[in-house]
Formats: sequence, C-alpha cells, structure tokens
Amino acid sequence: MPTDILAALDADCGADVAHAFSALAVEYLAATRDRSTRVSTPHSRTELAARFAEPLPHHGRPVAEIVARLRDEVLPDCNHLYHPRYIGHQVSAPLPAAIWMESLTAAFNQSLAVWEMSPVATVIEHQVIRWLTTLAGYGPDAGGTLTTGGTEATFTALLAARAALLPDSWTNGVTNPPLLVCGEHAHYAVTRAVGALGLGLRSVRLVPSSAHRMDPQALLATLEAADRPVMAVVATAGSTATGSFDDLSAIGEICATRGIWLHIDGAHGAAALLSPQHRHRVRGIEHASSIAFDPHKMMLLPLQAGTLLVRDARALDAAFAQHAPYLFHGSDADALPDLGVRSFLCSRRADVLKLWVALQRYGADGIAALYDHLCDTARALYDAVCAHPAFEPVHEPESNIVCFRRRGSDELNRHVRESYNRSGAGWITTTMLGGRRVLRATIMNPRTTAGDARTILDGLAAVKP
Ligand SMILES: Cc1ncc(COP(=O)(O)O)c(C=O)c1O
Repeated sequence: MPTDILAALDADCGADVAHAFSALAVEYLAATRDRSTRVSTPHSRTELAARFAEPLPHHGRPVAEIVARLRDEVLPDCNHLYHPRYIGHQVSAPLPAAIWMESLTAAFNQSLAVWEMSPVATVIEHQVIRWLTTLAGYGPDAGGTLTTGGTEATFTALLAARAALLPDSWTNGVTNPPLLVCGEHAHYAVTRAVGALGLGLRSVRLVPSSAHRMDPQALLATLEAADRPVMAVVATAGSTATGSFDDLSAIGEICATRGIWLHIDGAHGAAALLSPQHRHRVRGIEHASSIAFDPHKMMLLPLQAGTLLVRDARALDAAFAQHAPYLFHGSDADALPDLGVRSFLCSRRADVLKLWVALQRYGADGIAALYDHLCDTARALYDAVCAHPAFEPVHEPESNIVCFRRRGSDELNRHVRESYNRSGAGWITTTMLGGRRVLRATIMNPRTTAGDARTILDGLAAVKP
C-alpha cells in the first residue's frame, strides 16, 4: 500500500479541504442571488462531452485543482436551480440546512437496510414516517419507507397492492393479470410499475379527465365495465403537467365501497398536507391504502428524498415476502422493524436525516409557508399571463405549476422556449395539453418573485418568431 494515498485520505479529512468544497457551494448560492449569472448552459451535450473526454485519471491531483475544475468547468454549465428565473422542472432550489446535511449523511454512511447498520437513522426514519402518516390522517397501524422518489414509491405501493390481491404472486408470478385503473394524466411511474410487475400494459384502463382531473363519473363507468378484478386505482394529487388535484374524497368513496386498493400519487402535491391554506386540495387523502409523497419536490429537499406511506404497515411487509437470514434476523424488531424488509433497496442512504434536519431547522409550519409562497408566485405568473397580450392561459393553477401559451402555433411555442432557454436569461419547460404545445412553469424556488415572473414573460414575448 503506497503511503501517499493514506496521507491523502488523512489530509482530506481536514477542515481546509471541507471548506474548499463547501465554499464553492456558498459561492454558487450567493452568485445566483443577484440574478447576474446565466441560468443554464449555452453548450450542446456534444460540446460538454468533449470537455470531459479524457483518460481515466490513474494518479490523484491536489484538491485545489479539482475544486478549480468544479468552479470553471462544472458549475457554470449546470442548471442553476437557485437562480430565481429557473422555473423549469419539478426539482427544488433546495433548503440550505438540508444541503449542508448531505456531506454529514455521506460521512456517517449509515445503511437503512437493518437496524444494526443504522441504529439512530432507522429510529429517526420510523419517527419521520410516523409524523407523515399522522399528517395524512392515518392511524397507529400505518407505516412506510423512504424511497428514491415518487417512481419507486408508486412501484412499491403497487407491489403491495398486488400482494394484497394475489398473495401467491411473489412465488408463482401473475398468470391472470388484474386491471390497473388510473387517470389519463397519471405520471409514467404508474405504467412503468405495471410493466415491471408483470401485469402488462394491456391491463391498464385510463380514466378520462375533466379540467385536468380524473372524472369520478368516468371512473365509475370504468370500474363497472371491468372484465377482471381491479388491483388498484391510482389517483393523482398534484399532476405533473398542471399541478392539478383529483377529487380524492369522491374517488376514495368509490374505491372504499368496492374494496379496491386506492394509491394516491402525491409525489408532487401531498406536501399540501402541511399547509392550512392548501390542505383542502388533498381532502380525502386518508381514504388511500397508500400514498407517494416526495419531500424532494414541494418540501424543497435536495434529491433524493421520497416516501411511501401505507395505511397498514403489514401490507408493505407482504409486498416483499423475502427470506434473507444473513441480513434480516428478526429479534426485537416488532416495534421498530428493520426497514430493509419494506424497501426495494438493500443498501439505502440515510436520506431521512436531511428531512429530519429540515424539519428541525424550519419547522413544518415554515415549510408550509414556503409551499404557500410558491403557489402564490405561480398565481402571480398566471395573473401576468392573463394580463399580457402575447399570451393566453390554459388553466388556473392549483399549486405551483402553470401552463400557458404564447399566442400562435405549436411550432412558435417550441421555438420561443428553446431560444429563451438558450439565452441564459431564464429557463422554462413545455408539455402537450389537449393536443397543443404549451409553455410550463414550475415554481420551486422561494427566491422567485412576481417581478421575476413578469420579467420571464417579457423575455418570452420578446423572442422573434
Ligand atoms: C405526479 C408525479 N408522480 C411521480 C413523479 C416521479 O417522481 P420521481 O422523479 O421522484 O421518481 C413525478 C415527477 O415528476 C410526478 O410529478
């Protein structure tokens, strides 16, 4: 073993090296505050790939050189989510205390597979899940797990639904696939899970929407027309395209009377549970058998931090009916079971720590106030769209997502978005709604103001056809 590598490890444990990395993050946070930096890269992916096309480094370099490369070659061409005029995808400008927690999580490197690998983190995860299940209106039998995000949460929920309907499917597979019913606007996480669980996409029934929300009458008709047992209905609380909320009370009642597993994809919008002003959007959420709720979206945590909450924790245990005596020892696990038995993953980061830290630092009420603020800014953008002659609104925002169009063709809207994003002045995304190309804004940064929203609109209006 060469001694220089051990010396490098020792040196890198010091405060000066820690500071070199964290100082760069501080610089980034400060630089985006004055709105003077570009929001994103002007370079193509091929240009960026050329920059990093170099041989495998066999020998280490000084930290200062690496930090300089991060400063000069990585940071400038990242999407600057902390820039107030980034209003693109549903990825947050993360809460600062949670940012700083990330390196501690890595330093501690606890794995949530079993309690003996993460004695405190396992207990904290149980506690945080308890806070969230209580918020959702669940009782003492509830449980859950942290996930990498909404996609894993929905996959796991539907695995639990499959185990509930077809308890032998873990062993025998699925020979007569049941149906899966979801709204036409459901995130692709749902059909991805259907494919992965061996049901086949032909088993999906899409329920039409009315005003971007699942139409409960159409759901009834779909269930009545079902020619096979229904494994689950998936409703959405905060849809990806428009941030709209399905009528969870009506859908919950329909599922309850028929004994059907209701999964609510609240990856985006379940954080409305925190907000007295927005909680009505998720009224009825307690009817669900399971809920996907992503703190890395509207609770503004850095990636990754998703959760799956289930009304009855035993359903989650049944989902992964796995025997692994080298890891799962049973013992005194009844009160606080090992979390690995409830998760798709084996090794799993203690992402719960940054969620716990964020709640300690800002409080649930502080995070709720941020949720309200993001929605208020989205509303201000909508009002500006309505008042601007170059634009037309497409829907009224129910959360922090607003879709609208520049008056003109689909091609014009596509061109406006691409040229504006390339300018570096701001960054917005796009989707198709009702067969038409729309511009889509997602406000995930508490620094974005109504003034920024108006400036972005002016910038979009100024793009020449
Ligand atoms: C409604 C909804 N569900 C699920 C997801 C997927 O979540 P994740 O990217 O955390 O897997 C998203 C993300 O865009 C979403 O908007």
